[in-house]
Amino acid sequence: MPGLPLLTAPAMLEKFERYPLTFGPSPIEPLRRLSAHLGGGVEIFAKRDDCNSGLAYGGNKLRKLEYIVPDILKSGADTLVSIGGVQSNHTRMVAAVAAKLGLKCRLVQEAWVPHEDAVYDRVGNIMLSRLMGADVRLVDDGFDIGIRHSWEEAIAEVKAAGGRPYAIPAGASVHPLGGLGYVGFAEEVRAQEAALGFAFDYIVVCTVTGSTHAGMLVGFARDGRERRVIGIDASFTPAQTRAQVLEIAQRTAALVELGREITAEDVVLEEDYAYPVYGVPSEETKAAIRLTARLEGMITDPVYEGKSMQGLIDLVQRGYFPSGSRILYAHLGGAPALNGYGYTFRNG
Ligand SMILES: Cc1ncc(COP(=O)(O)O)c(C=O)c1O
Repeated sequence: MPGLPLLTAPAMLEKFERYPLTFGPSPIEPLRRLSAHLGGGVEIFAKRDDCNSGLAYGGNKLRKLEYIVPDILKSGADTLVSIGGVQSNHTRMVAAVAAKLGLKCRLVQEAWVPHEDAVYDRVGNIMLSRLMGADVRLVDDGFDIGIRHSWEEAIAEVKAAGGRPYAIPAGASVHPLGGLGYVGFAEEVRAQEAALGFAFDYIVVCTVTGSTHAGMLVGFARDGRERRVIGIDASFTPAQTRAQVLEIAQRTAALVELGREITAEDVVLEEDYAYPVYGVPSEETKAAIRLTARLEGMITDPVYEGKSMQGLIDLVQRGYFPSGSRILYAHLGGAPALNGYGYTFRNG
């Protein structure tokens, strides 16, 4: 953005312990062929949090978990308990962290997605979680990003069996420390911008349980870019997602002593791309996944990044971003879920 200061902010996270689970700063790469395909009016870059770690393919949850692990270790827990849909990336990441720390792992996998594929509950994320030794239980409840009965039951069951559970909510989002990881993302981007010699005008991010977007919002508020974080809703329950982003952002802002209020107006959430429902790709989502794969060799998935990529492409085509803008697409991971959509992509 012309005039944006190339500010290296004082570290907002200095006072918080972090247990490293990622390789270090994730790379930023230009998506030149995609930018040219969309007319060349804007420059699109990707920050590759999808390949940020050697732990079970990595992804956004590891940034969040880096700030939660010290609390896990202090708690004396012997079992991590978490929840997600059948093809949850988050539960895969919790299973990987449990393996790495030598803890047990109990996962509740709910029927969040009305998607039928013969191998949906046997491949991709859920297979990897099983492979890493997690105790995976399928539950027949529908999509909801809030606190779930099935998760509370799993925690109680672990306790009743003499275990010491540590509870991690869906997406690690409503955990009190869940927003910190993506405050760190903003700090990392600022340092990379200083090296690149320019600052990004917009950051595009997929939003569902909310702490990725919320953390970024707080992190980028440090240099006045909070409304330049453009969330693309993939939940299809945007009112709940929007409220959860705001709540997490306000809590995280207080935690890092941002020194200013985050308000509802700061939460920019584009609601037009999650259809027909969470986890089911529209024809436009499938087209975005194919386009990005064919132009850039960059793999996105039908649940999350395919929808945020669809949103980015559509917004560029509609002229949402002024000419000359530099846009940073946060690639948050999720490719293992593609295996559950083998029939959808059987012909590419
Ligand atoms: C690959 C991927 N992208 C985006 C998201 C959305 O992040 P959040 O739940 O923090 O809003 C998730 C998790 O829900 C995810 O696994």
